[in-house]
Amino acid sequence: MRNLLDATAELAAEYLDGAATRPVAQPVTLGSMVAALGPELPDHGVDPQQVIEDLARDADPGLVVTNAGRYFGFVEGGVLPAALAADWLTSAWDQNPGFFALSPAAAAAEEISRTWLCELLGLPVSCSAGFTTGAQMANFAGLAAGRQAVLEAAGWDVEEQGLFGAPPVTVVVGRERHATIDRALRFLGIGRAQLHVVDADAQGRMRVDELAANFPGGPVIVCAQAGNVNTGAFDPVAEICELAAGKNAWVHVDGAFGLWAAASPALRHLTAGVGRADSFATDGHKWLNVPYDCGIVLCARPEAHRAAMRLSADYLARGERQGSDWTPESSRRARAFAVFAALRSLGRQGVAQLVERSCAQARAVADALAPDFEVLNDVVLNQVLLRAGTDERTRAVAAAVQASGSTWFGTTSWQGRAAIRISVSDHATDDASIGVLVEALRKASR
Ligand SMILES: Cc1ncc(COP(=O)(O)O)c(C=O)c1O
Repeated sequence: MRNLLDATAELAAEYLDGAATRPVAQPVTLGSMVAALGPELPDHGVDPQQVIEDLARDADPGLVVTNAGRYFGFVEGGVLPAALAADWLTSAWDQNPGFFALSPAAAAAEEISRTWLCELLGLPVSCSAGFTTGAQMANFAGLAAGRQAVLEAAGWDVEEQGLFGAPPVTVVVGRERHATIDRALRFLGIGRAQLHVVDADAQGRMRVDELAANFPGGPVIVCAQAGNVNTGAFDPVAEICELAAGKNAWVHVDGAFGLWAAASPALRHLTAGVGRADSFATDGHKWLNVPYDCGIVLCARPEAHRAAMRLSADYLARGERQGSDWTPESSRRARAFAVFAALRSLGRQGVAQLVERSCAQARAVADALAPDFEVLNDVVLNQVLLRAGTDERTRAVAAAVQASGSTWFGTTSWQGRAAIRISVSDHATDDASIGVLVEALRKASR
């Protein structure tokens, strides 16, 4: 085992050393990758060291370098050293945080991370926390808690009676909500017909004046967004909470990356009012730069959170912190070790600096490219939307940069027009990486 782990550490270090200079992505196909990895199941096992050497060599052309500073697609964090190392230990320890008896250490890491996250994200310290695969399932868990609470207030026990015959729940969403909200609601038995879609302004923020003019009655869940996936804009959460107060309404905040603005004194104002909401979804694997998979659901009403998620059976001994009370999974990865390590290695100031640096870099990109490109959004966070003339030209510029391998970003359509999407959320992004991005865009545009 020791030889294998030493050799694997060497392979990992070699990969990371080379990541700074290799192409961000290479033109491969699924077929070529399957062929390279070897699709045939061997009759007899292969020596572990051989398996790992072959894997490292054969997977290499299909690896997308998202953690070396030059990747600006989707919203992808890199990997902090302490988080990566803790993640390795997590695998070596093979802990299951679903049940206290299976890992008091993982329970402690979850408990400490919970309190640190509440402080950093400006949430009540009494919030419950679950460590999920990502913001998708964090949204699911938060919305499940909301469904439980608003139906209970309407005299309906959804855990006992299910949804058939339940009072209808209306879910208020902004027009520019993230796609994972719709999918989470679908999992919860809430379809499109139950959505009350509120228009968004030019930055994608929910139009609170429209909501005020027409706030639905009955059991209501309001989904606010902290950080639009294209523009980085924040819904006016304080005003939304004000409107929801006193009604049978639950406010859920999808803050997959945007909630981290609260960790910076300079940016905290963007999240004003968030602490008044009921549930929150965020990611560890985006701006906190822990390895995939790590999302976090936090809930200001732990009793509703637990009622929606809890798991019990005679053989499942209950302990001081039952991890499975807070997530949709039973057994799962001990994700909080990496969260704990990332937060401890950064400290309060390090988290703030990480967030502020990404935002400053996003602004620098917009400023540097403004003469040649149209900047479509107010760059308030880490997202920049650019346009290079027509739709066709914009997509062609993006394709040329993607093909160059020097850097990578995606495209989107913003208010009916094609746009280049730049997202800055890797701790490894430095001035040189921003220079590569700006130069690649200028060159492709020329
Ligand atoms: C606002 C928002 N919500 C939810 C998600 C989904 O996150 P994940 O892919 O971690 O499930 C994203 C991903 O970019 C997002 O930006």
